[in-house]
Amino acid sequence: MKTRHHTYFENSKNMAAIPSNSVDLVVTSPPYPMIEIWDRMFAEQHLQIRNALKSRKSLLAFELMHNQLDEIWREIHRVLKDGGMACINVGDAARTINDNFMLYPNHARILSYLIKVGFNTLPLILWRKQTNAPNKFMGSGMLPSGAYVTLEHEYILILRKGPKREFKTDAEKKIRRESALFWEERNIWYSDVWLDLKGTLQKLDSSSSRLRSAAFPFDVPYRLINMFSVKGDTVLDPFLGTGTSMWAAIATARNSIGFEIDQSFRNEILPDTDVLVKFANQKIRDRIEHHLEFVQKRLETKGQLKYINKFYKFPVMTRQETELILNPLVTIAEFGENTVEVVYSCKPHSDGIQAWKEDFKAQNNISNLKKRRSKKKSQRPIQQKLL
Ligand SMILES: C[S@@+](CC[C@H](N)C(=O)[O-])C[C@H]1O[C@@H](n2cnc3c(N)ncnc32)[C@H](O)[C@@H]1O
Repeated sequence: MKTRHHTYFENSKNMAAIPSNSVDLVVTSPPYPMIEIWDRMFAEQHLQIRNALKSRKSLLAFELMHNQLDEIWREIHRVLKDGGMACINVGDAARTINDNFMLYPNHARILSYLIKVGFNTLPLILWRKQTNAPNKFMGSGMLPSGAYVTLEHEYILILRKGPKREFKTDAEKKIRRESALFWEERNIWYSDVWLDLKGTLQKLDSSSSRLRSAAFPFDVPYRLINMFSVKGDTVLDPFLGTGTSMWAAIATARNSIGFEIDQSFRNEILPDTDVLVKFANQKIRDRIEHHLEFVQKRLETKGQLKYINKFYKFPVMTRQETELILNPLVTIAEFGENTVEVVYSCKPHSDGIQAWKEDFKAQNNISNLKKRRSKKKSQRPIQQKLL
């Protein structure tokens, strides 16, 4: 299995290089209007924005900044396939201008435009970014009524172009089954509040470019790609920054395309290929390890799991996970300018799993579990009658 990843160092207002109806999933985070770190970038893109900021016409600046983003939202609607999804991470801005403190509701403005463009809105995710910063409480402290509630969350807007995607052929159904996620991951990933991703693997350390780019944690695009696409799909990020979405696409065996206006991110997007291979394979090992921990706990507290995964031979909760496989990366190589090609193995990682299997067999072996399952099956009609 192979995937390709290409970065355009261009303005994503014009994605003419991408054919209409060719992308399966968009995962992105734009510069947030009215957040100060992005003022300069917006002002450079349009003179009117610069003037509005200078003359402190905040609502005009807010609207003009969104007009810039609107052009990109129209483009993503064009390039997405029918049934394709878009996940947009955005935060609101709280700011005092002309002595007037107010919230600039970026998520609401973007959502209402996306509906106008023709997207179907789906339930969204509140990403809670809890902070202990002393200045998180804003305004008059303990004295009513000039104190404001904290702003410790962002949004992940989730949209679909047209009706639900269908998987019709046997090959499409097989790749979908192999792209499944674990039951215990589903319970957290598909929940409407993501409580904290601070503890998750970070793509880079807190380098100055990472801070400058306002990069999201690796797990944000990693989860979204797993949730809303299958292996071999094409993922687009029109605001690529340091390339977190591209790394996540590489780690999940999806193809990807990124647009980034700032050339200085070139080395962060695709650094040393060995680093990338190691990083992605570590993520896969972590997921398997978490699953094995989950299985162990479940066995101790609730007893046997019903199904066995065909590739790893370990227990899983549901039939839908029996063909799940996380393909390890083998190589990443340059493939023309600003493009890399990734080769994956069709065999699962075995390290760590072997030791667990020995342990598991010693305690309560898999063949016993299989026997019990087939016994249960033969009893099913009687149980159903009893019900
Ligand atoms: C919030 S950051 C994205 C960070 C990214 N998710 C990451 O993890 O590194 C937004 C990025 O969009 C880029 N950008 C802003 N306007 C753009 C445009 N019109 N076309 C392409 N890139 C743009 C900025 O340079 C910035 O790197």
